Amino acid sequence: METPRESVWGFFMETISDPQEMHRRARQWRDLGLKVVLVPTMGFFHEGHLSLMEYGRSIGDRLVVSLFVNPTQFGPREDLQRYPRDLDRDMRLAREAGVDCLYTPEAGAMYPPGYETFVTVEALSGGLCGASRPGHFKGVATVVLKLLHQVEPQAAVFGEKDYQQLVVVKRMVADLDVPTEIVGRPIVRESDGMAMSSRNTYLNPEERVAALCLYRGTQAARERVAAGEKSRERIVDEVREIITRTPYSRIDYVELVDPETLQAVEAIRGEARLVLAVWINNTRLIDNTLLTETRLCSVS
Ligand code: PAJ
Repeated sequence: METPRESVWGFFMETISDPQEMHRRARQWRDLGLKVVLVPTMGFFHEGHLSLMEYGRSIGDRLVVSLFVNPTQFGPREDLQRYPRDLDRDMRLAREAGVDCLYTPEAGAMYPPGYETFVTVEALSGGLCGASRPGHFKGVATVVLKLLHQVEPQAAVFGEKDYQQLVVVKRMVADLDVPTEIVGRPIVRESDGMAMSSRNTYLNPEERVAALCLYRGTQAARERVAAGEKSRERIVDEVREIITRTPYSRIDYVELVDPETLQAVEAIRGEARLVLAVWINNTRLIDNTLLTETRLCSVS
């Protein structure tokens, strides 16, 4: 018997850890003609995650949120061990967000002994974050494909915050004939503009102030472009200068790229994405924004 989605006491939420049980549950829903939507996450929820859940709920009948801190997307010297975790809080927030099933697989079930198959989205994974985090997108593509097979959702929702990840996942799904629609959603920001991220918890108060340079950089670029600027060099230089004069900061990359191929562009024609990654002391932060060519009309 299918459980109703909500009662007078609030929403029902199941928690499933076993991949096969997850698969059976989602299949039951589909057999009833219900549209299943997946939001993949690594937990420690913030408003960015919650916005994806809210949207996922609005486009489907059953919402599955996966919570799995995926070891294969972390490099050997990265923050897998200290990545923030709070399952009780996440369960409460997910229930309040109307999630039907919180899927929490164990690493041993996702990658049992003898596991050796990985997915590589070739060129799209090589530059930008892929250049400073070798193997990162291989881990992301692999875990996302596994989650898509386990849940078989009609749609999966991702944030534009991790813009390269979104492009990589879209490419993989198209190339490997996965029958899931990949939906991208806008970046959710703090009131001062800082993009929300689980890793923001690593920042001390001074670093948190410095970290605003990413947002200030994107805003300066938007203003320049609104005033008619098209040149990659001038836009990127201005952003680099804003970041360089901020204490504690070190640029990983600032690039202007084609929104689909992620190849660098020399000038904005139509649309381009400004993408950036910056170290604030030991914390690496990313941000991005869409820049749209401004056609200024001259009145004579
Ligand atoms: P995680 O960092 O937990 O992010 C889960 C989803 O939330 C991603 O799609 C991410 O882009 C989105 N997100 C994060 N911050 C956001 C913000 N400020 N506004 C909007 N969306 C935001 O990304 C991952 O986990 C993992 O790589 C994963 C896809 C789950 C694979 O392991």
